[in-house]
Amino acid sequence: MPSIDLTGKAAVVTGSGRGLGLAYAHALAAHGASVVINDVDEAVAEQAVKSITAAGGTAVAEVVPVGTTEAADRLVGRAVEEFGRLDILVTNAGILRDKVLWKMTDEDFDAVVTTHLKGTFTCARAAAVRMREQGEGGTLILVGSPAGQRGNFGQTNYAAAKAGIAAMARTWSMELGRAGITVNAIVPVAATAMTETIPAFAPYIEAMKNGEPLPAFLRKGEGFGTPEDCAALVPFLASEAARSITGQAIGIGGDKVALWSHPQEISAAYADGGWTPETLADAFPTSVGAELQTVGIPAPKFPEA
Ligand SMILES: NC(=O)c1ccc[n+]([C@@H]2O[C@H](COP(=O)([O-])OP(=O)(O)OC[C@H]3O[C@@H](n4cnc5c(N)ncnc54)[C@H](O)[C@@H]3O)[C@@H](O)[C@H]2O)c1
Repeated sequence: MPSIDLTGKAAVVTGSGRGLGLAYAHALAAHGASVVINDVDEAVAEQAVKSITAAGGTAVAEVVPVGTTEAADRLVGRAVEEFGRLDILVTNAGILRDKVLWKMTDEDFDAVVTTHLKGTFTCARAAAVRMREQGEGGTLILVGSPAGQRGNFGQTNYAAAKAGIAAMARTWSMELGRAGITVNAIVPVAATAMTETIPAFAPYIEAMKNGEPLPAFLRKGEGFGTPEDCAALVPFLASEAARSITGQAIGIGGDKVALWSHPQEISAAYADGGWTPETLADAFPTSVGAELQTVGIPAPKFPEA
């Protein structure tokens, strides 16, 4: 079994006061990395630092809302100030403002896109500048979502931001490859404040909070578990064992880890000299349109009662 040792490495995890980010920060610290905790909520950020320190790790808190260049500079600056360097960035901070398209306001759209998409862009850019200066490579772990991969009812803003994040991971893996910086999008699924309101999962999350294990159909079938279940992927991707893994979207949750495909052409047809609307109408249904793609996150498959 390869050992995962991040001793001497410094990490920034955005939105790490609670939920998945907190689990990622704990996992990085448990494997030797020093961590800058970030959140908008000062109380949870301070509590996160305390819990990591109590477990024998090293962490400091930087309370700032990610989304701006100033916030990104503060986070990278804090890692350099405290730990002398930056090796790992996890862009995890996020919010939801769900509404169907015709009810979504500009504010709903901007808030989600600013936190997720612009927050990821600004933090990754600041980290890339620092890592390129250091000249020793690095790890960018961006956070996608099944909603970004597939689309999801009521999540115009969120699906757009998360699809954009997966696209940025692919782009940056090319741009930063020569500098030895890997860039991957992870696609987690876990019980957190963000998901406990999903009605189908609510009773199981409630039971889990009372100490009952999640059933196998959730842990395996749905790849749904605790934030800690998702956290193993982060130290792995930051380690020597994962230096050749870049530009990927990797799903994690419950007992499952999965590789997502990237969009690619799956069928093609040709007309000499190009297509007209009429020849498309004639040929499309029986050629490239014969098997149209499905959209959306598949509904959970509950066991027969
Ligand atoms: N829970 C899931 O199943 C799931 C699935 C797919 C993707 N994700 C993604 O994982 C990430 C974490 O989700 P979670 O479920 O742990 O959510 P959460 O709500 O439990 O935690 C998110 C944390 O981010 C903080 N935050 C919000 N806006 C911020 C900002 N501008 N700057 C800094 N911190 C900010 C919040 O205060 C909170 O502590 C998000 O990017 C989310 O979209 C979660």
